[in-house]
Amino acid sequence: MNDTNHSPKGRTLPRHIAIIMDGNGRWAKQRGLNRVFGHKEGANAVRRIVEECGKTGIPYLTLYAFSTENWNRPQTEVNALMTLLSQAIRSEAENLHKSHVRLNAIGDLSALPEQCQKDLSEAIELLKENDGLTLTLALSYSGRSELTHCMREIARQAAAHEIDAEQIDDDTIRQHLYTSDMPDPDIIIRTGGEVRISNFLLWQCAYSELFFSPVLWPEFTAENLREIIAQYMNRERRFGKISEQL
Ligand code: FPP
Repeated sequence: MNDTNHSPKGRTLPRHIAIIMDGNGRWAKQRGLNRVFGHKEGANAVRRIVEECGKTGIPYLTLYAFSTENWNRPQTEVNALMTLLSQAIRSEAENLHKSHVRLNAIGDLSALPEQCQKDLSEAIELLKENDGLTLTLALSYSGRSELTHCMREIARQAAAHEIDAEQIDDDTIRQHLYTSDMPDPDIIIRTGGEVRISNFLLWQCAYSELFFSPVLWPEFTAENLREIIAQYMNRERRFGKISEQL
């Protein structure tokens, strides 16, 4: 989707919020619990924030649920996360349906366990006609892998003379990203206090407003989200221009 409908003064609601959900492990450690409990509590935060976005009328929410790099975590944690994802998708599908949520997933989904792929595709199918919030889960995702995948596809089409290399522009790249059917994120939030983008939506974040919250993801509330949206709506988005031109 071409993203030209910017609100220069940022006074309208964001159309797309993307979140790096960080801090589950620390939340659990602070309580002397296994990290997996942090992820479980993180799943409750996902429910809260999805509900809030639906109520507020945000069209797109993208959650960084599992990065390509997360495969390098201890196998027990990876297994627990995959099981939790499957369970959450299965148990939430009906609620999401009632809330008119559409589900989408980006990343190298073929790397997920078969059960997880099955649960995901069944839920996507169930929710595909919904016209409320589009919830996208980034799973086995990294921005560099997405760009590599995109460039490989464009190179293949150029070699097959389906596109002319001289005509490749921003839009060609946009159309080959996993996110081709959604606007770029207006807001990217990272919870958990770290100030980095960690390979998330590297092309799409060019003009995103970035928010870094010290709150650990399992404690992130609807009120925290509302405060960020209010700040966003007060920020002036210039897209390279000066204030007087807006
Ligand atoms: C980062 O916290 C979080 C993750 C790698 C996993 C996110 C997964 C969930 C919130 C669970 C369920 C998700 C869905 C979509 C139902 P971390 O473990 O890196 O925390 P730390 O930095 O404190 O160690």
